[in-house]
Amino acid sequence: MAAYDYETHEYDCIVVGAGGSGLRATLGMAEQGLRTACITKVFPTRSHTVAAQGGIAASLGNMGPDHWHWHMYDTVKGSDWLGDTDAMEYLAREAPAAVYELEHYGVPFSRTEEGKIYQRPFGGHTTEFGEGPPVQRTCAAADRTGHAILHTLYGQSLKNNAEFYIEYFAIDLIMDDEGSCQGVVAWCLEDGSIHVFNAKMTVLATGGYGRAYFSATSAHTCTGDGGGMVARAGLPLQDMEFVQFHPTGIYGAGCLITEGARGEGGYLTNSDGERFMERYAPTYKDLASRDVVSRCMTMEIREGRGVGDNGDHIHLHLNHLPPETLAERLPGISESARIFAGVDLTKEPIPVLPTVHYNMGGIPTNYWGEVLNPTNDDPDRIAPGLMAVGEAGCASVHGANRLGSNSLIDLVVFGRAAGIRAAQVVDPNSPNPSLNKKSVEKALDRFDGLRHAKGTVATAELRLEMQKTMQADAAVFRTDKTLAEGVDKMYGVAGKMDDIQVTDRSLVWNSDLMETLELTNLMPNALATIVGAEARKESRGAHAHEDYPDRDDENWRVHTLSWVNGKVDLDYRPVHLNPLMGHNEGGIDLKKIAPKARVY
Ligand code: FUM
Repeated sequence: MAAYDYETHEYDCIVVGAGGSGLRATLGMAEQGLRTACITKVFPTRSHTVAAQGGIAASLGNMGPDHWHWHMYDTVKGSDWLGDTDAMEYLAREAPAAVYELEHYGVPFSRTEEGKIYQRPFGGHTTEFGEGPPVQRTCAAADRTGHAILHTLYGQSLKNNAEFYIEYFAIDLIMDDEGSCQGVVAWCLEDGSIHVFNAKMTVLATGGYGRAYFSATSAHTCTGDGGGMVARAGLPLQDMEFVQFHPTGIYGAGCLITEGARGEGGYLTNSDGERFMERYAPTYKDLASRDVVSRCMTMEIREGRGVGDNGDHIHLHLNHLPPETLAERLPGISESARIFAGVDLTKEPIPVLPTVHYNMGGIPTNYWGEVLNPTNDDPDRIAPGLMAVGEAGCASVHGANRLGSNSLIDLVVFGRAAGIRAAQVVDPNSPNPSLNKKSVEKALDRFDGLRHAKGTVATAELRLEMQKTMQADAAVFRTDKTLAEGVDKMYGVAGKMDDIQVTDRSLVWNSDLMETLELTNLMPNALATIVGAEARKESRGAHAHEDYPDRDDENWRVHTLSWVNGKVDLDYRPVHLNPLMGHNEGGIDLKKIAPKARVY
């Protein structure tokens, strides 16, 4: 047994991660008088939400008619009918209240002439159940919306006496023998001390695992830490095969150019100078859903119509827009294009390429954020004491493909829901669970084993091998052959974890050890992704399978569950088809969201 002294802290609730969903959950819990701590490996305002540009979707109707039913319809269609109906209803219905709350907390949204929150068009957001013109639904603070939200939520959390443990790395969950969560074991990066956080409710808000791929818009911190901890606790991950490629990452650098650029009138061209999206999506063109636009761009490149010396990317034009609009609405990407592509976007097009951006899959939850530990008899069984929100979780509102600007609203709606639910199920006057020492020791043994790992493969080398394998074999287009080869390769790559080499044995700011711990989290996420993709014999949303080009609702309108423990075991659970509100009570007419061909 590894001998580490540790300090024990008791809270009603702990939240791991301080991005948009983590801070919104922290704030909600603290506001309701629950003793709440947020544990985060980076300073809160450096969390990846800070990079969210274009905006947050809510049917406020500030720029024209809108309705939450239309938002729900677009989300259902965007998900390619894999999202859970109750969760998608909750998202669309609660979105306006969640945005007005943000406004009242102090988020500095851009404004219309009348002083209302400014809203821009985004891909896949429409009117009249997909029959009308695009809607302006995405509420924006210029192109720095995530930055504005993050700073506001951090300030509000402090005001409500939430406590922060900053630059603490969560090693593992503490679980009791019955499968309830009791908190986490964490490592303070600054002074090397070990901490045990004991709580009645633990919320994982650790973000996505974009860094399992070679080229991603995600920050280097997006290493799927929550998914890794959940997998090691014997709980499943869900729908991991659905990985979103954002159409407009800067070619070479991978940095995001917001979809808001196309919302403000930008468009894509191929080497013939053709606006090719008009051919593929005659109605919504460049504002079709992301998976559709990314696939069309890839097809143009494959068919020899890519731009540049190697014909391997696409042009995004904004140079026809008035410079004042670009300065007011898109100042951030004007700077990114200059720095990362060497382009003055008032004069030249930006070179762009579909780039890994978002994980639709994650830790399965219900729409309150409670983590699920499904069985065949009870596919909605809850793992007590554990929640997951934001990109780490899978409620599932995005199904097989997320609409742009539905991520920020997911963060705040479900972060807020977790706070509401915690106030219902956590009794601040009851004692905390008595700690399962065996679980704490197991976490410390794993930590110590990695700290003293004496293998031959450096962490950076193995991470690169994983990233290149995922990029090549779990890509925009997939085939039986590439996926089968990818699964073999990924098992080989993951097997090398046993031969990992850590050279720094210290405990203070040991980035070698931290990156190794992160790699142990990335690896189960990556494995679940490629194994789930290999098994799914259809095309749906972001999973474009060339050998099975059609969606197969009869056999595959199901959520994939994957248990990762050396190998990946798969099972499936049904999609929730029932809404929360009946049509007579003001809910959506279910006939409107019945499955049909997905065209834009
Ligand atoms: O394009 C963007 O601004 C990204 C938004 C999103 O992923 O929701």
